[in-house]
Amino acid sequence: MNPNEKHGALTNLYLIGFMGTGKSTSGKLSAEKIGLRFIDSDEEIERENGLSISKIFETQGEERFRTLEKNFIDTGHPSKGYLISCGGGLPIQEGMIEKLKSKGVVFCLWASPETILYRTSADTSRPLLQSDHPLSKIKKLLQEREKKYLLADRIILTDEKGEQEVAEEIAGHYLESFG
Ligand code: S3P
Repeated sequence: MNPNEKHGALTNLYLIGFMGTGKSTSGKLSAEKIGLRFIDSDEEIERENGLSISKIFETQGEERFRTLEKNFIDTGHPSKGYLISCGGGLPIQEGMIEKLKSKGVVFCLWASPETILYRTSADTSRPLLQSDHPLSKIKKLLQEREKKYLLADRIILTDEKGEQEVAEEIAGHYLESFG
């Protein structure tokens, strides 16, 4: 069965993965290739709340941020025709991967801790990585989250790949199933 024929619109694609794996950049490029519209959970939460992610963490705490992410998935985005770039911790909440899979297809972008460090070190907008030992923090979080990330419908390795190459892989796998 081709779900697009059944529903008359393209199945949502949820892009998950750790910070710095290229969800936003490759996500945007692949959305264009596929013909999906692009949306980023962090950007939507920032816009809705009029606050940066850092400010939400600082003034309301991580737990509140996780509730905002859950609300975004439950009621804050269209159910068809979108590629949704999900914040790195969004799919980790209990039952969230299952929920995403019930709403569409889920691809995970993957990178080694060293690649993640290289890609994120100049950026101060991620509160969880503002540590004196970011590599240890990345390794610890990755280890805690790995099992959930690996439940995605597809894992795409991004180490030593450019944004375009990753975008082509994402689009290729999506179109294989739904094109
Ligand atoms: C987070 C990832 C960030 C953002 C927030 C928390 C996480 O999104 O949601 O800083 O817990 O991994 P990106 O993965 O887009 O950087």
